[in-house]
Amino acid sequence: MKAGFVQFTPELCNLDVTINRLAKLLKEAPPTDLLVLPELSNSGYNFPTRNDAFDAAEELGNSRFITLLHDHCRRTNSYVASGFNEREGFKLFNSAVLVGPGGLIGTYRKIHLFYNEKDIFSAGDVGVPVFETPIGKIAMLVCFDWMFPEVWRIAMLKGADIVCHCSALVLPGFAQRSVPIHALINHFYVITANRTGSEHGLTFTGMSTVADPNGEVVYQAGAETTECQIFDFDLEKSRKKLMTPRNDIVADRRPEMYHELLTL
Ligand code: ACM
Repeated sequence: MKAGFVQFTPELCNLDVTINRLAKLLKEAPPTDLLVLPELSNSGYNFPTRNDAFDAAEELGNSRFITLLHDHCRRTNSYVASGFNEREGFKLFNSAVLVGPGGLIGTYRKIHLFYNEKDIFSAGDVGVPVFETPIGKIAMLVCFDWMFPEVWRIAMLKGADIVCHCSALVLPGFAQRSVPIHALINHFYVITANRTGSEHGLTFTGMSTVADPNGEVVYQAGAETTECQIFDFDLEKSRKKLMTPRNDIVADRRPEMYHELLTL
């Protein structure tokens, strides 16, 4: 399986410019099965007001951005996971969408909101879905979710081969250092697609990161570059959870010793 990311700069609150920019990048992308795009790729991130975020959001069933992704997936017989500013009624969700040749497959809504996002978005309410596709089992997380090992573990226990981590990271390299550890201790692939550029004084850190099930950094992008990078993934490595002949990291878990996690 081939998978990778597009690191780019969405244009804040300007879907026309973003669609033109992304359409060109997708057209130039090397052949692949899966591409991961940054957080809030359809709208940008640092909205002056919630009204701006609302105006820039789209509904899942009426989205020019998802139509662009669907056209790309149909043309290339591939899949895209992308951050998506989702409007449902008066609510906004900082979501990730999985799109394939047949259209929208599913959605994740960011569970752990970062800083001023709490003034704009509702916290995610759909758990951590894992989507079974012809290319593998795919989970999606969004940016600050990197800080919370629980959601990565749920993705692993639900059988994810690969986690698409759609991001707009601003803290200095913390997530880029953590993601390979999530990959190692859950023994799956992770693609962190981060964005570049600055919006109203907030600078995004780029350095999109691909990590393999041994926690090795397969690739890390530049801090300011626009890049599309593709790699070969061996999903059998994700699926084999043996660390030694006597240690299967799923079978060795002791959930009966973890109940305090739910009460503390
Ligand atoms: C972040 O969650 N966008 C830092």
